[in-house]
Amino acid sequence: MCGIIAAATDRSVGKLLIKGLFKMEYRGYDSAGIAMHSENNVVHLRTLGKVKNLEEKMIADKPKGKVGIAHTRWATHGEPSEINAHPHQSNDRVFIVHNGIIENYLSLKEELTDEGYAFNSKTDSELIAHLLDNFLKAEDSLLSAMQKLKNKLDGAYAVAALDQREPESFVVARNRSPLVIGLGKKENFAASDPLALGNLTSKFLILEDGDVAKISPDLVEIYDAKDKLANREKLTIDINAEASSKGNFKHYMEKEIYEQPQAVLNTLDGRIGGEDVLENIFGEGSSEMFAKVKRIQIIACGTSLHAGRVAANWFSAISGLPTQLDYASEYRYKNPYVDQDTLLVTISQSGETADTLAALRYADDKGYLASLSICNVPTSSLARESDFLLLTNAGPEIGVASTKAFTTQLTALMLLTLSLAKAAGKNPLLRARMINALRLLPEKISEALKLKNDIMDFAPEIANKDNALFLGRGIFYPIAKEGALKLKEISYIHAEAYPAGELKHGPLALIDQEMPVVAIAPEYELAEKLVSNLEEVKARGGALYVFGNAKEKLDLSTGRYISMPECDFLLTPILYSIPLQILSYEVALLRGTDIDQPRNLAKSVTVE
Ligand code: F6R
Repeated sequence: MCGIIAAATDRSVGKLLIKGLFKMEYRGYDSAGIAMHSENNVVHLRTLGKVKNLEEKMIADKPKGKVGIAHTRWATHGEPSEINAHPHQSNDRVFIVHNGIIENYLSLKEELTDEGYAFNSKTDSELIAHLLDNFLKAEDSLLSAMQKLKNKLDGAYAVAALDQREPESFVVARNRSPLVIGLGKKENFAASDPLALGNLTSKFLILEDGDVAKISPDLVEIYDAKDKLANREKLTIDINAEASSKGNFKHYMEKEIYEQPQAVLNTLDGRIGGEDVLENIFGEGSSEMFAKVKRIQIIACGTSLHAGRVAANWFSAISGLPTQLDYASEYRYKNPYVDQDTLLVTISQSGETADTLAALRYADDKGYLASLSICNVPTSSLARESDFLLLTNAGPEIGVASTKAFTTQLTALMLLTLSLAKAAGKNPLLRARMINALRLLPEKISEALKLKNDIMDFAPEIANKDNALFLGRGIFYPIAKEGALKLKEISYIHAEAYPAGELKHGPLALIDQEMPVVAIAPEYELAEKLVSNLEEVKARGGALYVFGNAKEKLDLSTGRYISMPECDFLLTPILYSIPLQILSYEVALLRGTDIDQPRNLAKSVTVE
């Protein structure tokens, strides 16, 4: 889950590669490096820490070059250090950058050690450089060495490589890790994410698994898994520079929180009409397929699975369909039993999460009716490999903690709920009610965003605690889980979520004055029960922070009550996510953490 970028151009390549790395820092930020063909050799620079350290080294050293590769790392094998940073090299001839994991690296390392290669780093990636160097003893080009290499490697990889003896070009290979080629005028590029190339081109070729390509300023030659010359679909992707910049906000996360009214509007755009959801918005034939669905299986990770947990309630209440949910990382290992007419739904912001992709591929021959993905990245593997797709259209999400991706996933999942209900001819009145409520949602979110000052008022009380508990019942329990995840990710405060009724079965033992308890408590059928749960907290001295819309029902002599805007009950999970995001953000700000790039995390988890 690193970012790689490579370029062959006739202008100075260093700045261009560094700019691209900055845009991919969300993929990893523990070390960075660059290798460029220079006069008669290859310049090789690596630094520990973020890309700005590499940039500073480049400014000091002023290396020159027109063809180069670069990398920003999220450590898997070997701690973050300069020696483990990419590019790795072999015999000062071959230089490589790699994103992914080589599963058979121990046996390959043994083979290479027997051949006399010495390893400097603790990574699984270094052996790629040695293998290429070894193949080059018999092969006449880096391209053919890379074609040999791909038959040796098991695992996931996107690789870019330079051979010191081929100064005009670089070579890339892809298997189960994202890699796109960007086409310019007298210059060509490759990167893990089109975002990294946004200021350079809008023309992209998406590589497929098993592809190897040789790239020079004038030529892109792609060979498929069988080493046959291949054409790949040309896509135009206009990456709006504003969408990938922070604007006037302190952090990407802050910007992304405040973008949510527009992001939700974008998810709805062109998908609803009159009093219903439009036909086939998940792809040609989707409405017909929906009519056959009897059950749903959801697979996702982290925040995306929380969105799935909310949707499971909607599928049951509105579409009358039972739902099974699994962590993508667990799904394959439980011998899943597949009932007939089950729709497989994967949810992912990036569409490159390795666990989710592996689950989708595993499920391929298990007899599901079809696979459907809710995804934010049109070029992603998940988007391309699913039978049906709804793009959330949230725009790039760069802050590591997911915010607008979550609320737009929920919006998309409501569209799926309504499409399933429509195909089965169920609940026309409720469907019309939900369509109207969806239309009002962006406005409601804007109102919820105005709670910032109220939240800032008590954020210091939470910022100086070590733990926090989040409570919600029914459809709000996943929102409590999401609130707790957000807080722990960016403020490093330990936070847990419970269905409020579970409190008395154990967690109540944790309650004292040091334990802030955040409760999601809109008025609904379980509200009275929730009030009793909150009383139990109050009686034990816990500090309560309640988000709700019925203050009069709760005698809060201590603690805070945050009055939420009114909205259709079934959409409240979306609305109540907003203040919890703001709360995490404000607490993290007070604690001075690295909000957009929290420690140990990366945005796109492309390793299993
Ligand atoms: C949390 C967060 C993660 C992701 C998870 C799945 O804020 O962002 O929990 O939701 O890693 O990522 P995607 O949605 O890209 O599959």
